[in-house]
Amino acid sequence: MKIERNLGMDLVRATEAAALRSARWMGRGDKNAGDQAAVDAMRVALDIMPMKGVVVIGEGEKDEAPMLYTGEQVGSGDGPEVDIAVDPVEGTTLLAEGMPGAIAVVAVAERGSLYNWQGIAYMDKLAVGEQAKGVIDINARVDVNIRNVARALGKAIEDVTVVVLDRPRHKDLIRQIRETGARIKLILHGDVSAGVMTAIENPPADILMGVGGAPEAVITACALKCTGGEIQCKLWPRNDEERALIAEQGLDVNRVYGTHDLVKSDSVFFAATGITSGEFLRGVEYFGGGGRTHSIVMRSASGTTRYLDATHRWDKLMRISNQPYDHAE
Ligand code: FBP
Repeated sequence: MKIERNLGMDLVRATEAAALRSARWMGRGDKNAGDQAAVDAMRVALDIMPMKGVVVIGEGEKDEAPMLYTGEQVGSGDGPEVDIAVDPVEGTTLLAEGMPGAIAVVAVAERGSLYNWQGIAYMDKLAVGEQAKGVIDINARVDVNIRNVARALGKAIEDVTVVVLDRPRHKDLIRQIRETGARIKLILHGDVSAGVMTAIENPPADILMGVGGAPEAVITACALKCTGGEIQCKLWPRNDEERALIAEQGLDVNRVYGTHDLVKSDSVFFAATGITSGEFLRGVEYFGGGGRTHSIVMRSASGTTRYLDATHRWDKLMRISNQPYDHAE
């Protein structure tokens, strides 16, 4: 059933809350504490949203994550039945090390429409924005994809930017991209941001390539569904155990999952708030008595992308969510 209400504006309050709470952990070297702060805040904000939500992409199984675990029901219980994908801190290491690009992210789509993640940690990904939709093929050679995207964008190959996670597993991929003459933006973490980056106006990158988290692929697909971009992925087992898990579940490593396989619905909402400043979202700025956030909100039905600057005052926030936002604690 189509979601009539614009849940995006509610969702962004959840990412703002997560960012405001977790940004205090910037550079303090504690990934888990930063993540927990975001989870706590996001959970409260999601619970007051008018929806019957179930977490499909969450913090893990129930026994390993006390909140926002896969299968958890969230929302006020009134309103549409929806699937929820959360990443309260996308880039936990970036936050812990005080590096750019950590964001808080949530996506919502009609119930039953998000890819039911089967425990395989990684996927090989190829993502582009709307202008290059339809010209990519994850089974094609790297140079072919880059050439086709360059043509679709009306750019010289040398002006195309490919964003890739800086990992040893990408040594050969990076070599192949370099051979084409395309530019590369190597990132330490955060391939949701990287995927979204290809799909916004004045994109800081044109193509996302390489292997990253599978849950992150679903969240990226939600954003691309809203902006009209495209993602293609394949399961990427790390070892025999994961290969066996894939076989047991009747899955196929050769299957290509497109945007629509990861998010079936056309009624999708996506919100993200910067925690540490990155290329398309500024991080949280604290001032005496409050904090400022910078967010992006998308809705597939209308195709809108909104950027929101918000000023939050601890005294007021405490009244809304009953959370201890007081920065002086
Ligand atoms: P976390 O926020 O969970 O730390 O994930 C960060 C991230 O960089 C994702 O953006 C990416 O998909 C994944 O980790 C890559 O995994 P790995 O660091 O194991 O290569």
